[in-house]
Amino acid sequence: MKYTSWKWAIALAKVASVVMWNEFRYPQPIKGRYQVATNKLEKLKWAYRCWVHQLERAEKDSGIEDYFAQQDLSFRLPQGFQETQRLTVAAGGDLMAVDCYTYEDTPHLFDGIREFFFENAFTCANLETTVTPSAPVGRRQPPGSPPKLNTSEQMLDRFQPGIDYFTTANNHCFDCGEQGLVDTLDCLDRRGALHSGTNRSPEEQEDVLIVERNGIKLAMLAYTADMNGNECPKPCLINEVRFNDEHPDFSLVERHVRLARERGADVIIASIHWGWEFEMYPHQNIIQAGHRLAEMGVDVILGSHPHVSQPMERYTDSNGRAHLIIYSLGDFVSYHPLTRNSKLTYVVRFDLVKGRDRAGTPVICLDRLRVKPVYICCRELEGNRYDCRLLPFYQVLAQPERFGLTEADRQDLPRLEKTVWKKILMPREPGDIIEK
Ligand SMILES: [Fe+2]
Repeated sequence: MKYTSWKWAIALAKVASVVMWNEFRYPQPIKGRYQVATNKLEKLKWAYRCWVHQLERAEKDSGIEDYFAQQDLSFRLPQGFQETQRLTVAAGGDLMAVDCYTYEDTPHLFDGIREFFFENAFTCANLETTVTPSAPVGRRQPPGSPPKLNTSEQMLDRFQPGIDYFTTANNHCFDCGEQGLVDTLDCLDRRGALHSGTNRSPEEQEDVLIVERNGIKLAMLAYTADMNGNECPKPCLINEVRFNDEHPDFSLVERHVRLARERGADVIIASIHWGWEFEMYPHQNIIQAGHRLAEMGVDVILGSHPHVSQPMERYTDSNGRAHLIIYSLGDFVSYHPLTRNSKLTYVVRFDLVKGRDRAGTPVICLDRLRVKPVYICCRELEGNRYDCRLLPFYQVLAQPERFGLTEADRQDLPRLEKTVWKKILMPREPGDIIEK
């Protein structure tokens, strides 16, 4: 299998990017559904951002770059806090287990980050493919349309044991119709995996997932803002919320937050599939939606979808409570060999700590956010085979020859560190959060 791009589309996109300079070089706020499947200009912008240059600027004159550069992400317990329970959560981005990600070509997939990602943690990721015998395994690409993804159940053996929770709400969850969506949930249930975001019935949609670990109850909510143009006839099947709309309908989230609290959740984590592909900064309307969710009571947001990582935010709500918002964890088990910024992604760990504050009031706090930069390496071997690995970025930067990178990928490593990692993704003063 070889990943090919359309040379004519790249050439046309380059020409259009000169004619429509601002349109191609700055994010444009978009409301409603993403029109990439039907709008020719959006298609060209997609081609430019995927294959030519990922968008490294925020909306023009928005000040968003500085806002993220000034973040303080060093979550700490308040003075006088008396700890009773602690739980570590780990999270990674999109699992798009198609293309070169076959069971045969992934025996060492997580070896390089196993300890950070899996050990003594409740581990979460976004399963961005169906798992159904009703469709062929792999990527199907109808001409001019977004791809349809389906992976093998065997591939899930690479994710389990290890990943405890999968969000299934994303723009690929309906790629194989209702049958594919239901088969995926049946498969996860059969394997004992925790999941949320898609549902077989209205009752399931209201049955908020509560997970208890180390005496701490987590509510795991999940939503997607887009469906890749797939029309789903039953709203209950997918937790779809258009966060990018001018006035998003938050009623489903509000209901889920209320149900979570009624069921005794100590912490609410929401996995949200939102944002725009190949853009390194979230739009202003997505940032506003993130703040609204935090005010609603969502403690942690694990964002994904743009195929590149985006910065994180520590948001303090109107009650003085700190929230962690990760706008995009980025690609993870995903194959974008021509998209340079997709290759540097990150995974996080953070602690949830239950106890009493100085006044003796029971509280839960976020503590010790740690971030590990990860290099996605899909090395081509003889006979159309691959060796796919998720590697600690700083190991690759120090010794690229050890990992069989192409010359072009090697040469791009210093730029990834300087521009993508240090300038865009991490705050100017990251403190001790980075785990190399
Ligand atoms: Fe997506």
